[in-house]
Amino acid sequence: MKTMIEPYRSRVVEPIHMTTREQREEFIRDAHYNPFLLKAEQVIIDFVTDSGTSALSTRQWSGMLGADESFTGSRSFYRFREAAQSLLGHRHIIPCHQGRAAEHLIAHAVIKPGDVIFSNTHFATTRENFEEAGAVARDLPIPEALDPASPHPFKGNIDLNRLEGSIREAGPEHVRFVVITVTDNSHGGQPVSLANLRAAQEICRRHGIPLLLDAARFAENAYLIKLREEEARRMTAREVAQAMFHLTDGVFMSLKKDGLGNTGGLISINSDEWAEKIRIRLLVSEGVTTAGGLAGRDLESLAVAFDEALDENYLAYRIASTCALGEQLAAGGVPVLRPFGAHAIYVDGRAFCPHLPDEQLPAWSLSVALYVHGGVRSWETGNVMMGRRDKAGGRWTWPALDLLRLAIPRRVYSSNHLSYAAETLIDLFERRHEVRGLRFIYRPPVLAQFVATFEPV
Ligand SMILES: Cc1ncc(COP(=O)(O)O)c(C=O)c1O
Repeated sequence: MKTMIEPYRSRVVEPIHMTTREQREEFIRDAHYNPFLLKAEQVIIDFVTDSGTSALSTRQWSGMLGADESFTGSRSFYRFREAAQSLLGHRHIIPCHQGRAAEHLIAHAVIKPGDVIFSNTHFATTRENFEEAGAVARDLPIPEALDPASPHPFKGNIDLNRLEGSIREAGPEHVRFVVITVTDNSHGGQPVSLANLRAAQEICRRHGIPLLLDAARFAENAYLIKLREEEARRMTAREVAQAMFHLTDGVFMSLKKDGLGNTGGLISINSDEWAEKIRIRLLVSEGVTTAGGLAGRDLESLAVAFDEALDENYLAYRIASTCALGEQLAAGGVPVLRPFGAHAIYVDGRAFCPHLPDEQLPAWSLSVALYVHGGVRSWETGNVMMGRRDKAGGRWTWPALDLLRLAIPRRVYSSNHLSYAAETLIDLFERRHEVRGLRFIYRPPVLAQFVATFEPV
């Protein structure tokens, strides 16, 4: 096979600060064993997130230089709206500053206490926003999503039987909407198929319930559909994305992932009534309706990105390079979640560290050890992020999967960077018994991963 090359070249470079193991031991101690609290300059390869970390293209920069920074009605907004609408197809396009702002706006504009919302899996901030507004947010992933070894090509699918049953049980009048997250970030970045979306839409339509997408990774989901689903083989990635959006009543999304933005979010919706309520909230909390808190230059860069995100050379490289990282890790014995998605490789923390009980936070402890070992920062989507303690402060309920996530920023790292990260993790796997468990010192009631502090057991 020919060497796979990045379908772009670098014009501007940013130095990486190299560090020693001794320095990293000190840095992580000062960060209370929470990699999120490290300074970025203390990291060699930063796989903490693929969000807001994309390298911008020459086309994006040139659009930004010509941006219109008028307070309202700027040319840049109309360019953004046109690019978004031609892809998403809904009547109203409402910009906001990032994905969780979109969730917050929807939560406060349309959710009422006692509402029920079903999803394949709510992302952490989505769940918090909806529950804060008084809703019950329930996940209905297919059983294969919880099996790290299952080869199911669409582990992001929502469980259709459970969706039907759960709607009947809750009573359709109490279900405010159904939201499908593409791809399913919390269960390994797994895609949702067109067939699953279509069937979910049919169930929702029958019960008169709106279907929304959390479409932060719409382009990667579309390309994985093209690769894995027969009916989409001859479609372009853009056509697949349009087919996905066409099945929905609305979309909310962070534009910091596939949107290739350093900031940005949007809501795209058909309902005039919801749009009006959301715009009123927007004016209170984000900004004017033709900016949503974004600068004209952000809107320009995002307008270009709707096109670039669906470039098939870029998507083919993105998915192949992520897959190559996964294969390298698997060949070194590292227990990785399969099949590989697009934005990240996930490692099974419990299988990597069988000597650590759930209380000692295997995937989190592994992410700390990986940083110390080679300066690679990763993140956990597992016990720290999703573990829940009962009200009396006693028993823990741990999530089905305790994963370490290596999220790959778009257009930033070369294949050599990825290979270095893989070698570091494989080396650590060979001495895995040295990974020391951690326990909480401080754990806030919600979104613990951002601020919690830890100590070695
Ligand atoms: C699926 C999903 N939805 C929503 C969000 C929140 O987006 P943002 O970070 O832009 O607030 C994220 C962020 O990682 C995400 O992965």
